Amino acid sequence: MLRLHDDTPGLPSGEVPREAVYANLRFGDRAPADRPYVVVNMVATIDGKVVIGGPGTTRLIGSRTDHYLMTRIDGQCDAVLFGANLLREDDPRYPFHDEARRARRVARGVRPEPLWVGVTSRAAFPRVPRMFEGGAARTVLFAGSGIAPHDRATYGAATTLVVADGPEVSLPEMLRVLRDDFGVRSACCLGGPALNAGMLRAGLVDEVFCTIAPKVHNGQRGTTMFEGEPFPVDALPRFDLAAVHADDGEVYLRYRVRRAP
Ligand SMILES: NC(=O)c1ccc[n+]([C@@H]2O[C@H](COP(=O)([O-])OP(=O)(O)OC[C@H]3O[C@@H](n4cnc5c(N)ncnc54)[C@H](OP(=O)(O)O)[C@@H]3O)[C@@H](O)[C@H]2O)c1
Repeated sequence: MLRLHDDTPGLPSGEVPREAVYANLRFGDRAPADRPYVVVNMVATIDGKVVIGGPGTTRLIGSRTDHYLMTRIDGQCDAVLFGANLLREDDPRYPFHDEARRARRVARGVRPEPLWVGVTSRAAFPRVPRMFEGGAARTVLFAGSGIAPHDRATYGAATTLVVADGPEVSLPEMLRVLRDDFGVRSACCLGGPALNAGMLRAGLVDEVFCTIAPKVHNGQRGTTMFEGEPFPVDALPRFDLAAVHADDGEVYLRYRVRRAP
């Protein structure tokens, strides 16, 4: 893998093995007092599409190196955040960790096991998402107040259910609860684009990791990394490039959100 740029102090230049990339991220050390440090991690085609087909096809966008780096990034976070549509469509399974993996996480300064967090207004899932096989100690569902009584009972038993005061989940409040009640200092938001957009608009995103896969999906419409209300043209959020790596035509970008001085 060719390292083109990386502002991490002490890294050698030139070609580096993939194990050397994002080796010691320590996001939690940068966390503000009132919420976790939040990174978004997504993969897109050259034409910016992050959805290329039905359930399960998102994995076809990135290469094995992308999948490796993705696991490396969220593997160094206390928590992983999922929007409800991502749970409905891709329905990821909770990754139970063996002793060695738990020890590696602790050495990197994060919880022994990741806390997987779902966000929904009404929990209208066609079936209980598989992430909740992780149980109440490893998973949390933040839901709006419109969650139906039978879903309250179902998710109250399957996971740790946190019900908001209003129909939507206040994302700043969700992060405050994750920090104060669950001790989460770092969180990786895996999307999808609607959740990413809400997080960015609320000023809750610190970094964006974005893989550009050397592929084109085409089509006149399509879902991109952030799908929310557009920002004013003269007030677009700005980012500073922290790292760019490449492998076999695929590019791995790491951006930090530029904060107003
Ligand atoms: N290429 C990639 O890297 C990548 C990564 C992730 C996902 N994806 C793809 O993206 C698609 C899903 O993305 P999406 O934008 O449709 O949906 P999404 O962001 O996964 O989920 C949106 C839903 O999350 C819930 N939600 C978000 N913010 C909320 C809030 N503040 N309060 C309450 N609920 C909130 C709502 O759930 P309710 O519907 O329950 O109200 C909302 O409809 C999938 O096709 C997936 O494969 C691609």
